[in-house]
Amino acid sequence: MALQSPVMSLMIKAAEKAAKSLVRDFGEVEQLQVSRKGPADFVTAADKRSEEIIFEELKRVHPDYSFLMEESGEVKGADTENKWIIDPLDGTHNFMHGIPQWSISIALEQKGQIIAGLVYDPIKFELFRAEKGMGAFLAKKRLRVSGRSDFESAVLAIGYPNPAEDRKKKLLAELDVVCNVAPMIRRFGSAALDMAYVAAGRFDGFWERGLKPWDAAAGSLIVKEAGGYVTSIDNDDNPTYSRHLVCGNPAIHTNLRKLLKSVV
Ligand code: IPD
Ligand code: CA
Ligand code: CA
Repeated sequence: MALQSPVMSLMIKAAEKAAKSLVRDFGEVEQLQVSRKGPADFVTAADKRSEEIIFEELKRVHPDYSFLMEESGEVKGADTENKWIIDPLDGTHNFMHGIPQWSISIALEQKGQIIAGLVYDPIKFELFRAEKGMGAFLAKKRLRVSGRSDFESAVLAIGYPNPAEDRKKKLLAELDVVCNVAPMIRRFGSAALDMAYVAAGRFDGFWERGLKPWDAAAGSLIVKEAGGYVTSIDNDDNPTYSRHLVCGNPAIHTNLRKLLKSVV
């Protein structure tokens, strides 16, 4: 049974409300492609609107909780033990180009642990969610990571935000090593969805350097609750905050992490 706490119901309500606004705006984006300036400002406004909607919905029910949001940063509430971590639009560049691969990501952190996470793709009507100890779900379906353990048949996903020169070098070196054993590598452009796809067994593994907490928080819990592993690439730091994250089914995660650590 797909159990769901009141907190998750609230998160879903907030995400659905924000999604309505984003989907409406996504419909407009196509028209703006032809203008010389492009839709950049429009998308920034859409992004902010989405964040405001989520913020208002969550705050109304839990006025004391703290927030960490991509657009507005940290908003400390009287209760600092409970913190919402929000990316109101993950996959901005896809959105801006009319590519239907973007999402909303909301997580609740309690005393430093993510206890609930949601990644919503309103274009495909796919809402991935998990609560600590209660499993991961896509609608009513329980999610499980894939059982593939060989790199040959695995599909891996990657991401690379604004690669600064040193990070670009690292990524290319990593790709060089990983491509030799795992030829099927994808770059879809929404880290939160990439992680949700690992949980759903669509991708067998994912890594990215330079992630922010709002990219990783909800997806991390969803992968874990689907039986996958999520860690920092290089050390034992909390993967939500370590920036450099690798996840996957247990076998792929272990071997992929080893490979990535071997790249100097
Ligand atoms: C980005 C996307 C992208 C990832 C970047 C993120 P944004 O988030 O998740 O896939 O590669 O690291 O910054 O900017 O679209 O919210
Ligand atoms: Ca993001
Ligand atoms: Ca974003």
